[in-house]
Amino acid sequence: MKLLHINASTRASDSQSLDVANTFINELGKNSSNLQIDTFNLFEDELPEFDGLAVGAKMALFSASDFSADQKQAWENIKKVFDRFASADAYIFNVPLWNNSIPYKLKQFIDVVTQPGWAFGFDPAKGYSGLLTGKKAIVVHASGVYYDGIPEAFGSDFATAYLEDWLKFIGVETVEHLHVAPTVMNADYTKTKTEAKSSAKKLANEWTND
Ligand SMILES: Cc1cc2nc3c(=O)[nH]c(=O)nc-3n(C[C@H](O)[C@H](O)[C@H](O)COP(=O)(O)O)c2cc1C
Repeated sequence: MKLLHINASTRASDSQSLDVANTFINELGKNSSNLQIDTFNLFEDELPEFDGLAVGAKMALFSASDFSADQKQAWENIKKVFDRFASADAYIFNVPLWNNSIPYKLKQFIDVVTQPGWAFGFDPAKGYSGLLTGKKAIVVHASGVYYDGIPEAFGSDFATAYLEDWLKFIGVETVEHLHVAPTVMNADYTKTKTEAKSSAKKLANEWTND
């Protein structure tokens, strides 16, 4: 199995979502002799801008016009990231909650890889269909204050619903979410972390037995 690990945290040893994601990966590795892991660090690895050039290239494709030389280069860079994404059999994302949603680098990644004809198709009568089928994903979310059930005044989580929707949109049928929360406002964080790691190990074992 080729697992793509997409790390959306800026933090290294302090990242709680990364720690839980690594627990999952280590557990999976214990039981899988042929596990290949590719790690995409969104805040460190090269990620093309989805700027005027990229949008121009996308619009040129829609209207079947020729690319300029710059648009061609921009589109090739985008295709490279897509190919790396599409070549995986499974995904693990670790995602900090930022301002009730996802970090901007993850949105940039999504805008880069979610292209018509690559990630999804469109039928004027039937609507959209995901093209990245036969894959599965786990998303580890970390939030400092928010947790499921906290009063509204303490924020919201648009990240879980958005990522669930996006992954299903591109065709990933099996999506699991794991929350390590709250990471900051928490009188018993040790318990929260232990539970999150134990859920990560359980999920890894379920994947092994699939
Ligand atoms: C820019 C920024 C925005 C944040 N926004 C939220 C938020 O809306 N809700 C929340 O509960 N925590 C928020 N936090 C706290 C992080 O979610 C928390 O520190 C989490 O543990 C980060 O994930 P990591 O430990 O994997 O890096 C924010 C942190 C940063 C840096």
